Amino acid sequence: MSITLRKNNHIDICLRKDIRSKQSNGFEHYHLLHNALPEADFEKFSTECQFLGKNISVPILISSMTGGTEEGEQINRRLVEAAAELKVPFAIGSQRIYITEKRKPIFPYRTIAPNIPILANLGAVQMNYGFTRDDYLRAVEMIRADALIVHLNPLQELIQKNGDTNFSGLLKKIEKLCHDFPVPVIAKEVGWGIQAETAKRLIDAGVSIIDVAGAGGTSWSRVESLIHDDDIIQKIAEPFDDWGIPTAECIAMIHRQYPDIELIASGGIQNGVEAAKAIRLGANLAGFAARLLPAAAKNTEAVTEELKIIMHQYRIAMFLSSGIQKTEKEQERI
Ligand SMILES: Cc1cc2nc3c(=O)[nH]c(=O)nc-3n(C[C@H](O)[C@H](O)[C@H](O)COP(=O)(O)O)c2cc1C
Repeated sequence: MSITLRKNNHIDICLRKDIRSKQSNGFEHYHLLHNALPEADFEKFSTECQFLGKNISVPILISSMTGGTEEGEQINRRLVEAAAELKVPFAIGSQRIYITEKRKPIFPYRTIAPNIPILANLGAVQMNYGFTRDDYLRAVEMIRADALIVHLNPLQELIQKNGDTNFSGLLKKIEKLCHDFPVPVIAKEVGWGIQAETAKRLIDAGVSIIDVAGAGGTSWSRVESLIHDDDIIQKIAEPFDDWGIPTAECIAMIHRQYPDIELIASGGIQNGVEAAKAIRLGANLAGFAARLLPAAAKNTEAVTEELKIIMHQYRIAMFLSSGIQKTEKEQERI
């Protein structure tokens, strides 16, 4: 199957099928501490912050989904137009097709969105399959990105037919890539999470930010098994439906052990209240991918509307909370 066909199939399956992990994102185990006496004016309550040296209106990220194909470019155009209007960062999906086919996106993302952080994206495993430092640089330059995401997707590659399954020596290669790279490098999973020790090893190698992309949202073992329509692959993939570390757990674990690590929480985040929980648990940003896909398949206005709802929920949740606690049931269990 060509990469273009696979990428289009990904979008199609994510839109039509139930591709959520059988595991929850873990945020139900936490509640925000309600503050009945906020003593502030909501009209004046700002969620503005900085990310990669730029002002953004809320610590919410449109996470990587697509790139390279014509359908993918339409989706990205709608996402980036909404991101520019609402002043939130945007991450493009894997740019592998652009690199292998030696072309650039048709859509001028940076011209449409001159002031928001834009993030480039390539798989880390590609370093073991011929991609050079120049290719990663090209991914950044072609969209004039503020940072580069290198995604780690071992389980996806292992379930896939003819996946890229040689992960040996990748940390050293990531370290080499980070050395003197012109923009910060972000390491990201794709839906199974990053544990504290792995996060620390990546940071020690020179990675600037960790996006945990934890379990509880899009399950790539489900997506890949649905794409292949192959009995054997489906049987192999099935027990991995609930694989991975829930997003909330990743954030809590990494932040507890390494409070200085800059974190993005993504993986199954559905609304602004869950985003607020992620921030209160120690994340710097909360990322949304599949949640925005149906709107992005329609038009820019639909994405803007969804994001405005999420942003408003986030603003209310932050205004009305003064901390976060594990639910009583969870505390009993500990
Ligand atoms: C259709 C689709 C395509 C994706 N493609 C990429 C990709 O190219 N690169 C990447 O790093 N992550 C990719 N992801 C993973 C997301 O960025 C995110 O980490 C993951 O889906 C968990 O977030 P979610 O539960 O909100 O979807 C993709 C997700 C979706 C739904």
